[in-house]
Amino acid sequence: MSRNILITGGAGFIGSHVVRLFVNKYPDYKIVNLDALTYAGNLENLKDVERASNYVFEHANVLEPGMLQEIFEQHNITDVIHLAAESHVDRSILSPMDFIYTNIIGTVNLLAIAKNYWKENFDVHRFHHVSTDEVYGTLGDEGFFTEQTGYAPNSPYSASKASSDHFVRAYGETFHIPYVITNCSNNYGPNHFPEKLIPLFINNIIQKKPLPVYGKGENTRDWLYVIDHARAIDLVFHEGKTGEHYNVGGFNEWKNIDLVKLLCKLMDKKLNRAPGESEALITYVKDRPGHDLRYAIDATKINKELGWKPSLTFEEGLSVTIDWYLQNEDWLKHVTSGKYQNYYTEQYSNR
Ligand code: NAD
Ligand code: DAU
Repeated sequence: MSRNILITGGAGFIGSHVVRLFVNKYPDYKIVNLDALTYAGNLENLKDVERASNYVFEHANVLEPGMLQEIFEQHNITDVIHLAAESHVDRSILSPMDFIYTNIIGTVNLLAIAKNYWKENFDVHRFHHVSTDEVYGTLGDEGFFTEQTGYAPNSPYSASKASSDHFVRAYGETFHIPYVITNCSNNYGPNHFPEKLIPLFINNIIQKKPLPVYGKGENTRDWLYVIDHARAIDLVFHEGKTGEHYNVGGFNEWKNIDLVKLLCKLMDKKLNRAPGESEALITYVKDRPGHDLRYAIDATKINKELGWKPSLTFEEGLSVTIDWYLQNEDWLKHVTSGKYQNYYTEQYSNR
């Protein structure tokens, strides 16, 4: 079946991997990448597919309903995979309103246009909302987030994502929008913006700058290689049951401090530095307010129903990721110039 899929946020970290996968795997689909190109969006991420005949880029903002309407009409959009968002927890603490606008109002704009444009012919359409495990809040030392876990978001970012999930569900219940939601754990891999833990620390190790570990480094995250997330989105988009959530995770929990030490060890080897040189850069700084202690996904449902599982071990994925950053220092320099420096100073100077 031919489809015209609107992928929002396709110039960002995860979105660019989803766009690449769909453009290459489905030559009969038209892939329309809608992105506002905020600080986190970068068309350099998609150089290899930008000339593909089934790919179109639309520079637009989910906060502009008129433009969304035009794009739906111009490309006869049959489906949406919605990734566009403000995605960084620390920025949501500095500036919550941006998250409320893009993540909540932007999502409702898209839902409203899809509802009107698709009219009643919902059987042939799909609205796939890409969400996060952070909506479930935090875990103690034991247990996992399942699809039945109640929502208990703790940061402005996770509250805005939880709210967007609720609106997607409400449009499904009230207007029969045919939706699926994926709630994924922490991603890592190429093209990850260096404000998040792994790419920030890779960049700082390259530059021999301090590695600012929040609190005691005891918070735990469940890490998944970004291409495995893109594979999960592909599966759920095509085979997931309408109106359901699917949790996606790496079965791969790491305490921050253990992860940082592993990263330091791998990078010392790759950079021919003395063992322990990068670890000496670790600096414990003031904790993130409302810092969730532990995330861990139970990904049994997507595994049992759709046969998905991660394809790489963490050590393999981390090694590939470090190699990518070492081979793409121009990308790194490019995205960390200009306004990034202001953010870095604001975020880290008083910790
Ligand atoms: P990102 O910050 O790297 O990319 C976000 C993209 O959205 C950028 O290209 C940006 O330009 C675009 N964008 C932002 N505001 C926009 C607007 N108003 N209109 C149009 N485009 C806009 O984010 P990411 O890490 O790739 O995350 C993508 C999605 O996946 C988000 O919805 C996020 O909540 C979710 N998610 C992320 C992770 C993770 O670990 N990174 C894990 C689970 C879920
Ligand atoms: O769980 C999924 C979520 O993962 C996504 O929804 C978010 O978009 C994504 O940003 C990510 O959120 P986290 O807050 O978990 O990721 P971050 O990389 O910012 O932080 C990971 C852990 O590392 C967290 O416990 C905070 C800590 N940290 C982070 C930074 C940036 C530090 O100790 N120092 C830092 O400088």
